[in-house]
Amino acid sequence: MSRPSHDAAEPQMIFEADDVAVHFGGVKAVDGLSFGLPEGKIVGILGPNGSGKSTLVGAITRHVPLTRGTLRFLGKDYGNDRAHLVPHRGIARTFQTVRLLEERTVLENVLLGTDSLSGGGRAERRLAHERAQVAMQRTGCEHLAKERPDELSYGNRRRVEIARAIAMEPKLLLVDEPTAGMGRAEKEEVSALMMSLRAEGLTQLIVEHDVQMMVDTCDILLAMNFGKLIVEGEPRDVVRNPAVQEAYLGKQAVNHA
Ligand SMILES: Nc1ncnc2c1ncn2[C@@H]1O[C@H](COP(=O)(O)OP(=O)(O)OP(=O)(O)O)[C@@H](O)[C@H]1O
Ligand SMILES: [Mg+2]
Repeated sequence: MSRPSHDAAEPQMIFEADDVAVHFGGVKAVDGLSFGLPEGKIVGILGPNGSGKSTLVGAITRHVPLTRGTLRFLGKDYGNDRAHLVPHRGIARTFQTVRLLEERTVLENVLLGTDSLSGGGRAERRLAHERAQVAMQRTGCEHLAKERPDELSYGNRRRVEIARAIAMEPKLLLVDEPTAGMGRAEKEEVSALMMSLRAEGLTQLIVEHDVQMMVDTCDILLAMNFGKLIVEGEPRDVVRNPAVQEAYLGKQAVNHA
């Protein structure tokens, strides 16, 4: 047959989690997850409230201590890294609740994304400014550079947060509910941004409750429930899966009826 060999078809994994668990006392927030993120793809995580999605993101960025398991990025085990080292590896994130310095301008907030990576020299500062500018252009908040975050709409605050993350020029971007509280048009803009970043080769892991957006945006979906991976695969198959419908979509269908 003319199919490529198994090895040739196997996608290159930029990130791998092996049996990752995060327990908070008796709460098994993440309970033994193994999966990979293929380079250049958008992987989405679906799951009901409290299923462990944000905890998993926190584990990947080392903001949350691991109870057990292995994390590998670009083939290197980094599970013992402190959180502040993770951006240096090329992993950036946004938080479920927008975290910005309200007393600083948008530009200064985005520059923070580059700060941790650059030294204090003039050349570094100029490079950081260029990166921040590009990141603001990409996310459509360039015209807001001099504003303060507390003067901005929710959607624009999200944009600034994403700009700060991509100003690091990461190889992997993790976004936790980037469109929560947004209307359809704004969601579509965020979705288009994710896809344009993918076109440039950026691997992304997105947590979102908006099933339609996830199906439209992601290459692969992971469905979680009670800290475990219940289904993984092609987005349309995952959302049709009875276990996923039971855990998640049934509830959502009721909520949105
Ligand atoms: N720091 C913590 N200490 C104790 N329990 C925690 C902590 N963080 C999360 N949990 C618990 O872990 C479980 C998973 O929470 P997590 O925030 O990861 O869920 P989620 O899937 O992101 O939910 P949502 O969709 O509501 O954002 C929940 O039971 C939560 O209460
Ligand atoms: Mg969450």
